[in-house]
Amino acid sequence: MKVFAHRGASGNHPENTLSAFRRALDIGVYGIEVDVQSCLDDYVIIHDAWLDRTTNGTGKVCDTSLKTIKSLDAGLGQQVSTLDEFIQFTQNQVVLNLELKHTSHLNKLAKQLLTAVESNLVSRDNLLISSFNHHQLLEMKRYLPWIKLGALTSSIPLGYAQFASDLEAYSVHVDKDFVNAEFVADAHSRGLEIYAYTVDKYDDIKRMHQLGIDGIFSNFPCKTKSFIELTKL
Ligand code: G3P
Ligand code: MG
Repeated sequence: MKVFAHRGASGNHPENTLSAFRRALDIGVYGIEVDVQSCLDDYVIIHDAWLDRTTNGTGKVCDTSLKTIKSLDAGLGQQVSTLDEFIQFTQNQVVLNLELKHTSHLNKLAKQLLTAVESNLVSRDNLLISSFNHHQLLEMKRYLPWIKLGALTSSIPLGYAQFASDLEAYSVHVDKDFVNAEFVADAHSRGLEIYAYTVDKYDDIKRMHQLGIDGIFSNFPCKTKSFIELTKL
């Protein structure tokens, strides 16, 4: 079972920061999941639409300049990273699951990703774009036909197979509480990988393994990986 560090190793480090990413790389995770938001003049790695919870700033990310965001403390004196900084930092060592949140001007985002790929900062294979907003995913596919898409859903909607097929999705990302054997069999028969979030408890890790889930997002990837290795899951 693949382990993604959710917002980096966010259980022990400030979420979506370089220290959380460094820890995830040190552990040797399969991938790192981060949240991408538009600020006034760039893309930044931050979960909320507002700066307030994870920084000492206030206000909407989308109304704030990168210069102002860079002046803020995102935890332990760290700055909020731009998307480019995140990509450069990870040096193509792991899969980067970029979850689009309030992310605008997707043509610009696609261009940035293409430049990163062409500069060999990240390989196509190591990019996985996900979002709860499937319109955004469709648009990304139009700009980058080769891009791997992860269709995020909280539960399992009736039409999940249809939207996964419309998106030519690579994976479906589902809340761990909603996955069941029938869904796993169906998604696998359609060639989809299934990733579940957010899985930290041993019982849940075991259950995901028993269900045949392909990967999990964990806030404590070190503990989660050790448990998987020790119990030979
Ligand atoms: O990508 C999986 C998970 O991160 C989705 O929810 O709110 O943690 O971004 P959230
Ligand atoms: Mg996320």
